[in-house]
Parts: sequence; structure tokens; C-alpha cells
Amino acid sequence: MKVAVLASGNGSNFEAIAQAFVDQQIQGELTLVFSDKKDAYVLERAKKYQIPRFSFTPKDFASKKQYEEALRDLLLANQIDFVVLAGYMRIIGKDLLASFPNKILNIHPSLLPSFPGLHGIKDAYNYGVKITGITIHFVDAGVDTGPIVAQAAVAITEEDTLESLEEKIHQLEHHWYPKVIAEITQKGVN
Ligand code: GAR
Repeated sequence: MKVAVLASGNGSNFEAIAQAFVDQQIQGELTLVFSDKKDAYVLERAKKYQIPRFSFTPKDFASKKQYEEALRDLLLANQIDFVVLAGYMRIIGKDLLASFPNKILNIHPSLLPSFPGLHGIKDAYNYGVKITGITIHFVDAGVDTGPIVAQAAVAITEEDTLESLEEKIHQLEHHWYPKVIAEITQKGVN
């Protein structure tokens, strides 16, 4: 099982996943990391784990379609079986989806369908909900939609600040994402 991680930013989830491969909690090979941001810290983390890393952005291409084709070609050329989004802040286009049907997993920092989009933690905090959490789901053509695989909840207390909530959410993510990836990739994906 060859796995690729797509990420746009800090990469703390990538690191939790990379460590789970090292610890053989996840079987198979973490084959590559791709980022659409050339200066994303996730690429530094990938260097530390000696995972091949690639980066290009839609601006490098004449159209978004060509960007997606290049990304799909990169994944196919590396014989990737399963794609994990870890803070990849773009919608997956239909060509890429068609090449990896039910083989792209995402994590989102809220209890979907509440608070989709780019600011799941902040939106939940500002709304004033008392319980929020994380959602791990297969990717379809929508924004943070697609069949839900797992969710975990956390309380927002009177003492919480946005920063402390972010910390709680990231801890949940780092605990659950590797476990769920291990389960799904072990079962096989079809
Ligand atoms: C994570 O909290 C992830 O759930 C979120 O981006 C963060 C990436 O953190 N993803 C989304 O909001 C997707 N809509 P990381 O770069 O430290 O792993």
C-alpha cells in the first residue's frame, strides 16, 4: 500500500502520520508528500523523515485543470494507492477524484456537517457551541462533504481560548487520524 499525503501548511498531522509509519502502526509505505505551498513547513517535516517531497502551485500552470492533471500524474507515476489530505486547503477536482475513487481521505477540525470550510475551529468557537470535534471522511466533489468514517468530540469550556481549543483539536487529530488511516489501509480500499 503506497500512501501520499497532500498538505498546505504546518504539517503537524503529516508528522503524526509519518511517525505512525515509522512505528509500524500504519503498514505500507509513505511514498511522498505534496504541498501546493512551496514554503509550507510540512516540507521541512518531510525532509526530517526523509520522505520524497514535491511542490507546485496552480500559478505554475495555465489553468487549475492543468495543475490537477500534473498532481494526478505525479500520484499515478508513483503508483500511489491511497491519498491522505492533511490540511490540504483546496477542493479536489473531478479528474483527480475519478483516478482515486473512495481512495482520498480528509480530516476536518469540526463535527461536520457543522462548520465546514477553511476555519472550522474558529467558526465553532465564535458560534459558541459547547461541543465540537474532528471529522475524518472520504472526499467527494463538495467542500468537506463525503461519507464520514469517524468523528471525535471535545467540550469547549468557559476557560477555553481559541488557542487552547486549537490545541485540544490538534491532539484529537494526531491521535485519531493515524489510527483511522491504519484501519482503512489494512482493510484495503475499493
Ligand atoms: C488541521 O486542523 C486540519 O483538520 C485542517 O487543517 C489543519 C492542518 O493542520 N483541515 C481543514 O480545515 C480542511 N478543511 P496541520 O498542517 O498542522 O496538520
